[in-house]
Amino acid sequence: MRIYKVGGAVRDRLLGKPVTDIDWVVVGATTEEMLAKGFRPVGADFPVFLHPKSGEEYALARTERKSGRGYGGFTFHASPEVTLEEDLIRRDLTINAMAEDDQQNLTDPYQGQRDLEARLLRHVSPAFAEDPLRVLRVARFAARYATLGFSVAPETLALMRQLSESGELEALTPERSWKEISRALMEDQPQVFIEVLRACGALKVLMPEVDALFGVPQPPAHHPEIDTGAHTLSVLQQSALHKQPLTVRWACLLHDLGKGLTPNEEWPRHVAHEFKGLKLIKAVNERFKAPRDCQELALLVGEYHTHGHRALELKPSTLLELLQSFDVYRRPQRFEEFITACEMDARGRKGLENRSYPQADYLRGAATAARSVAVQPLLEKGFKGPALGEAIKRERLKALKVYKDAASA
Ligand code: CTP
Repeated sequence: MRIYKVGGAVRDRLLGKPVTDIDWVVVGATTEEMLAKGFRPVGADFPVFLHPKSGEEYALARTERKSGRGYGGFTFHASPEVTLEEDLIRRDLTINAMAEDDQQNLTDPYQGQRDLEARLLRHVSPAFAEDPLRVLRVARFAARYATLGFSVAPETLALMRQLSESGELEALTPERSWKEISRALMEDQPQVFIEVLRACGALKVLMPEVDALFGVPQPPAHHPEIDTGAHTLSVLQQSALHKQPLTVRWACLLHDLGKGLTPNEEWPRHVAHEFKGLKLIKAVNERFKAPRDCQELALLVGEYHTHGHRALELKPSTLLELLQSFDVYRRPQRFEEFITACEMDARGRKGLENRSYPQADYLRGAATAARSVAVQPLLEKGFKGPALGEAIKRERLKALKVYKDAASA
């Protein structure tokens, strides 16, 4: 049997990037031989094994053929006769279809190295179309390697477009899609992920609510970039520049969905877009079964981002409502994430990327003021049950009035 390193490990070594996961392919072996060497099978009838010591994945060289819709619809054939070249040709991109032996001799039948040098994400063969998830994978690789100058080869983009138009993307499970989306959002240039999905027509299928933002104008006084889609991409880009967590990046992507619902005759104004967008945010959240913290923050940022921008003008009672809506007393971190999402929204505008955002510290100060109200003295005064709740609110409101007066003095 011959063993080769394949896929991302070879690609990233050639790019001079750190290698985390190593995948191996085994040519010329049978399942029985693997088991005899102590490898543990991953599934009952799938030719992939875990190394007894390293736990890394070793797959028998295989060919695959699509036999139905979606991910389950595959038949594969693994046998000692399957060659390395046959295994590599079923893979997604040429840069992912190289193999290396233990002497670092490269097997590169599909010109992966040439495409690495040309900075091209190019599919290996028509077998690319057998897994529609690859549309998202290519967009994710484009986001990851954009800084290195990579782009999607035109013929691959055309194939991605065909796949998007064929209805195949609908067969993807929420879990598989979310894994790609969440990884892509955490890349350095997450906006490239959305751009590539849009360029091949996949965004219209996966997130029509985001796709609908392109071509929708906003008032130039607040939004020199004018286009709502362009603004959304800039906000997402800012969130990555500022190394924000996934929750914030997801909220940035979805914060303005309501603007896609404004009737054309009301453009460029978007009255109540915050509220109108909530049902769209909920739909996207649920479509991909986003984790709860991502879902919650996206909805809160959608509803309240304009409050964030107007923080310094808000009445103490409105400030208090805002803090209550966030349950800032028990969930201070979530409020902090809201504040940064608002800041990203303010900076994701053409020419305003470096503007200051005094609202952030003002909101932090308001949260501190409201949280500093002590409950003990109220208990000592005999307040209980709902009356206690009301008394706490009154005290917090007082504290916020003092805070606002001091800040504007
Ligand atoms: N692969 C594929 N099609 C898929 C998933 C994986 O062709 N839908 C192949 C590619 O050759 C890929 C390899 O399997 O390089 C390993 O897949 P995976 O570990 O998911 O990705 P990596 O390429 O290692 O990339 P990452 O750095 O994102 O993990």
